[in-house]
Amino acid sequence: MKIVISLGGSVIVPDGINEEYFKKFAGFAKELHKRHGIAIVTGGGRLARKYIEPARRFGANETFCDLIGIEATRLNSRLMIAAIGEDTNSEPLGDFETARNLVDSNKIVVMGGTHPGHSTDAVSAILADYINADLLINATNVDGIYDKDPKKYRDAVMYEELSADRLVDIVKSHSLDAGNYKLIDILAAKVIQRSKIRAIFLNGNNLENIKNAIAGKKFVGTVIRNG
Ligand code: UTP
Repeated sequence: MKIVISLGGSVIVPDGINEEYFKKFAGFAKELHKRHGIAIVTGGGRLARKYIEPARRFGANETFCDLIGIEATRLNSRLMIAAIGEDTNSEPLGDFETARNLVDSNKIVVMGGTHPGHSTDAVSAILADYINADLLINATNVDGIYDKDPKKYRDAVMYEELSADRLVDIVKSHSLDAGNYKLIDILAAKVIQRSKIRAIFLNGNNLENIKNAIAGKKFVGTVIRNG
């Protein structure tokens, strides 16, 4: 299978760098790569926000702040490349053509942000479409998509399945401000809907669970139903 994994900043840089996670995930990706085509898109998360917030106070506009965010995602890509070490690109990729060529030549692709106006969720959805991926995994620090924020509400209920139309509906009112995307960005949701991408939202901290999702075994997460 060809698999795109979107690694949220909340997992790789929850506050500081989660070095242990980088190491574990790199080993996990190399293991998966023995049987699958793998592309990893790294988020910027807290690192991005640490730079975006003062820049905004200095009066920088949203596009400027997005560009700062992109730098953060690329810095995380660079670290993931270092952790993987071999069989991967040497520079964080910023374009889909190179990414596709490298997946086709059996490299583990590591990519960060590309353009202002969306998050790495959209990058991973577009990449999944462009390389004809069999599966897009969106890994964050919560178990899936909930009816309300599970970090705030103890009675939040996780959806085991959600239609792409409903996903678009949920995110369409969310903020597009730099560093402030909740759940996923609208572009990502629309691309998943338009291209009928098989997508799963799950907790990136549980690698065994990701393995089960890929293997078609029982796992915890939200599956996006298309059509
Ligand atoms: P993230 O993809 O990490 O966004 O990119 P996020 O959703 O806010 O954070 P996490 O990782 O899910 O916690 C960080 C920021 O970089 C800019 C956006 O401002 C985004 O919020 N960015 C990223 C872009 O403008 N374009 C991109 O392609 C990627």
